[in-house]
Amino acid sequence: MKILVTGGAGFIGGNFLHYMVQNYPQDQMVNLDLLTYAGNLETVKSLEDKPNYRFVHGDIADRDFIMKLFEKEKFDIVVNFAAESHVDRSVINPEIFIQTNVLGTQVLLDASKTYGIKRYHQVSTDEVYGDLPLNRTDLFFTEETPIHTSSPYSASKAGADLLVLAYYRTFKLPVTISRCSNNYGPYQFPEKLIPLIIIRALENQRLPIYGKGENVRDWLYVTDHCRAIDLIIRKGKEGEVYNIGGHNEKTNLEVVKMVLKILEKPESLIRYVTDRPGHDLRYAIDPTKMERELGWKPEYTFDTGMDKTIKWYLSNKEWWQRVMNGEYRNYIKNMYDKRLIER
Ligand code: NAD
Ligand code: DAU
Repeated sequence: MKILVTGGAGFIGGNFLHYMVQNYPQDQMVNLDLLTYAGNLETVKSLEDKPNYRFVHGDIADRDFIMKLFEKEKFDIVVNFAAESHVDRSVINPEIFIQTNVLGTQVLLDASKTYGIKRYHQVSTDEVYGDLPLNRTDLFFTEETPIHTSSPYSASKAGADLLVLAYYRTFKLPVTISRCSNNYGPYQFPEKLIPLIIIRALENQRLPIYGKGENVRDWLYVTDHCRAIDLIIRKGKEGEVYNIGGHNEKTNLEVVKMVLKILEKPESLIRYVTDRPGHDLRYAIDPTKMERELGWKPEYTFDTGMDKTIKWYLSNKEWWQRVMNGEYRNYIKNMYDKRLIER
């Protein structure tokens, strides 16, 4: 089988490629990535000499390029990870989120339809369901929870999901969608909470916590997400949505304090800063469908996953020091300087 993995130079797509290249030597993996600020070929460097792996540089929203690529390569399966993925950036510049996440998805769907792809899988997010109240810990997102988005990022992901389901109903394109909770693990770009906190704590810098740090996220180790997607593309039912999560809800403050404890750094590094506009309160996934229909269960607990993650950041300083270039420093300055001074 030939599998197109888009966004494979990013965090989850990169981890997915490591998993797939190792576990399926008989399948061919093609990694298509635009190499935006979040894409990094160092993430997949150790795959370069593998016979079942290849990299292609390009934009999922470039219709001519994508059509030619599909015509030439004759993919069996498409797994679309490529996206603008950071909520805070979508507050500053929504347009690129529509371009990549919505229009890019539509181009991939058209190419999949034209060239008879056997399975198109859309990597979506639990953020399409909006948020849950902090004081209703009995409520969870199921696949039937209505779409109800908060940020330009989540709205763009929801738009893409609706297109995917429309191509199933209207054109009978064999699609599946997965909606996962927050991931953490190796190779995550340090704009996201966990790697940002690990790196800043290592450098004894102030740790920005939005609002009161009471918002809740449902954390999953990235390899558990990758295993779930692999199961869905092989055994999932066409036209279906699958929620992925491991019942691991934590407040942001709990997560930050855990990182500090493991790194033996003081809590005095914490700074409460101006909240994210439209900040979702709580995410919590009900993964019953994945468990019952596909026999999936997470293999990592938060303790084992965080231990692995922190060890990875400690022994891969070169990887994260290289991504902290001029663009990154400008982003951090624009995003946090004013916030840190205000409170
Ligand atoms: P990421 O930002 O780390 O990586 C995104 C990758 O997509 C980068 O390599 C980037 O270069 C590439 N890309 C961006 N625009 C592109 C384009 N136009 N054409 C080709 N490639 C392009 O993101 P991530 O955290 O790995 O997320 C991957 C996917 O998983 C996204 O679709 C995201 O919505 C979804 N998701 C993420 C999480 C999470 O916690 N990070 C949870 C659930 C779902
Ligand atoms: O739920 C899945 C989603 O998880 C994915 O779809 C997104 O691509 C991914 O970025 C992630 O979104 P979040 O907004 O939840 O992740 P982030 O790491 O940006 O923030 C996690 C929480 O931590 C959130 O409540 C905001 C807070 N936060 C974040 C940063 C970067 C802070 O308090 N301080 C920070 O500096």
